Amino acid sequence: MNTVLVTGASSGFGKAICQKLIADGYKVIGAARRVDKLSELARQLDDNFLPFQLDVTKKDAVENLLLSLPDKFKPIDILINNAGLALGMEPAYEANYADWEIMVNTNIIGLMHLTRIILPEMVKRNSGYIINLGSTAGNYAYQGGNVYGATKAFVKQFSANLRTDLLGKKIRVTNIEPGLCGNTEFSNVRFHGNGKQAAAVYQGVEFIKPEDIANTVSWLVNSPKHFNVNNIEIMPTAQASGGLKVIKNM
Ligand SMILES: NC(=O)c1ccc[n+]([C@@H]2O[C@H](COP(=O)([O-])OP(=O)(O)OC[C@H]3O[C@@H](n4cnc5c(N)ncnc54)[C@H](OP(=O)(O)O)[C@@H]3O)[C@@H](O)[C@H]2O)c1
Repeated sequence: MNTVLVTGASSGFGKAICQKLIADGYKVIGAARRVDKLSELARQLDDNFLPFQLDVTKKDAVENLLLSLPDKFKPIDILINNAGLALGMEPAYEANYADWEIMVNTNIIGLMHLTRIILPEMVKRNSGYIINLGSTAGNYAYQGGNVYGATKAFVKQFSANLRTDLLGKKIRVTNIEPGLCGNTEFSNVRFHGNGKQAAAVYQGVEFIKPEDIANTVSWLVNSPKHFNVNNIEIMPTAQASGGLKVIKNM
């Protein structure tokens, strides 16, 4: 039975991915900072789920995860780099710089920590799968997307470069690029707990749900090993790129 490490398991996509992969018969390590949320999830799942408190921005803590895993959950066969966040939607000239630093530290540096620490073991075994949670924000610019979109463009290019470094090895890499998804904490976090502003994002839209992303992950990890999906971009039918705008008579 394969073992999967899912970061950002306390909420949204990560939580749904843990639920789905446990149902599929995997052993799952669910990592996040909020232990209460992880314990609540552990109560719903069986003992093939291991809750693990982890802040992905702390390199020592990521190293410690590998060292302190019980034998049952070793080795990690599949890494799902899902932990991430957007903070703020102000234009770049008004954005909170501390928010920018947190996004870079989590979405880029945190993902680098997990990948650099876990990948060598996969290479030694010549087997493994890394699934990264990018975003359509890494593909299309939008107002207020500035650093968040740039972190997800990093995730896209890093995923592609990993594929290149791993050519000739039996290790797969996929970047999942979701558009507008609801029923997660994403917008509550982005708007610093302003529930009204967060709710407005989803009003009147049939959005993608965490279960849709979890089903996509399940399809990917259960697909044949000779088959690599490089990128998968998923949007609600109600969303598409609006094209380039021109402001007349500026
Ligand atoms: N929802 C969307 O519309 C959307 C669209 C495209 C891409 N995405 C991406 O999908 C991923 C999951 O988002 P979501 O919508 O499921 O959001 P969410 O409900 O807010 O979940 C984010 C998860 O990341 C964890 N996390 C944040 N900082 C962390 C840190 N420093 N260390 C460890 N875990 C951390 C959170 O757990 P703790 O707070 O407990 O640590 C939480 O479990 C993110 O990478 C996001 O950028 C989301």
